Amino acid sequence: MIKSGVIGNPIKHSKSPVIHNYWLSKYNINGSYKAIEINNNDFEEQIYNLFKKGYAGFNVTIPYKIKIMDICDCLSDDARAIGAVNTVVKMKNGKIEGRNTDSSGFIENIKNNIDNYYFDNNNAMILGAGGAARACIYALLKEGTKKLYISNRTKEKAENLAKEMKEYGNIEVIDWNNKENYLKDIKLLVNSTSLGMTGKEELKINLSSLPKDALVNDIVYTPLNTQLLCKAKKNGNKIVTGIGMLIHQAIPGFEAWFGVKPKITQELEKLVLS
Ligand code: ATR
Repeated sequence: MIKSGVIGNPIKHSKSPVIHNYWLSKYNINGSYKAIEINNNDFEEQIYNLFKKGYAGFNVTIPYKIKIMDICDCLSDDARAIGAVNTVVKMKNGKIEGRNTDSSGFIENIKNNIDNYYFDNNNAMILGAGGAARACIYALLKEGTKKLYISNRTKEKAENLAKEMKEYGNIEVIDWNNKENYLKDIKLLVNSTSLGMTGKEELKINLSSLPKDALVNDIVYTPLNTQLLCKAKKNGNKIVTGIGMLIHQAIPGFEAWFGVKPKITQELEKLVLS
C-alpha cells in the first residue's frame, strides 16, 4: 500500500484528505492519505519516522511550508523561487525532493476555467503580499505577464517581495489606497489577501474603471462567490473562483505518489465545498 498524507498544525481544517481520498477511491488505488499533526519540538524526528514507515511523500501546510525545506535534499525550481514547499516526494534514488505546486495550481485553475486564456502581453494586478501571493506572483511572471502591479496594505512587504521576484519579470508596487487608479490598465485582477473570507472583513474596491474584458480571480473559496467576484460579475467581467486552485495544486503530488494523473470533477468540487 502506498502511503501519503498532509502534515501541519493544526491539521483538522485541511481539505487535502477529502481530495486525495476521493481520487484513491475513484481510481481504485491501494493507497492511504492521512492528516498528520506534527509538533514543532521534534519536527525532524517525526518527518523521518514517516519515511521509515514507508511514506512516498506528503503535502505540507501551515506552519511548516518553510521549515520543511531544511530536511529536503533538493528543491524544484518553483519551490526555490517561491521559498516554500507544499509537496514532498521521496524519489526513486532515495532523495527527498521539495516542490511547490501552488503556482501551477493557480495557473491551471484559470486556464481550465477560461478557454484560450493567455497571460502574456497583458498587465495584471495582485492584491496581497503574504504566503499565497508569493506563488501567484511567481506564476504570473513566469507565464509572461507584461507588468504586474502588487498592492498590499503593508507596502513594505510588497516592496520586499517585488525585490525578491524582480528577476522573473516587471513589477510595480502601488499604494493600497491608490490601487483603483491602476485598474484601467489591467486585464487580470487577483485577490490573494484574506479579505472576503468568511468571518473576515470585505475587500473594498470600486471596479468601475476595470475594463470589461478583464478577468477577476479570487483565491478565497469560503465563500465560493466572494463579494469581489459578485461585484466583478455585475461589472460585466469574467470571474474564476478559488476552489480550483486548491484542487489543481493537489494533482502533481497525487501523480508523483500514486502514479495516476487525476481529473477534477464537479462532484469533487462539491465534496470539497461541503
Ligand atoms: P496567506 O498565506 O494566506 O497569504 P498571510 O501570509 O497571512 O496569509 O497574508 C495575508 C494577506 O492578506 C496579506 O497580504 C495581508 O496584508 P498585510 O501584509 O498588510 O498584513 C492581507 N490582509 C489581511 N487582512 C487585511 C486587511 N484587513 N486589510 C488589508 N489586507 C489584509
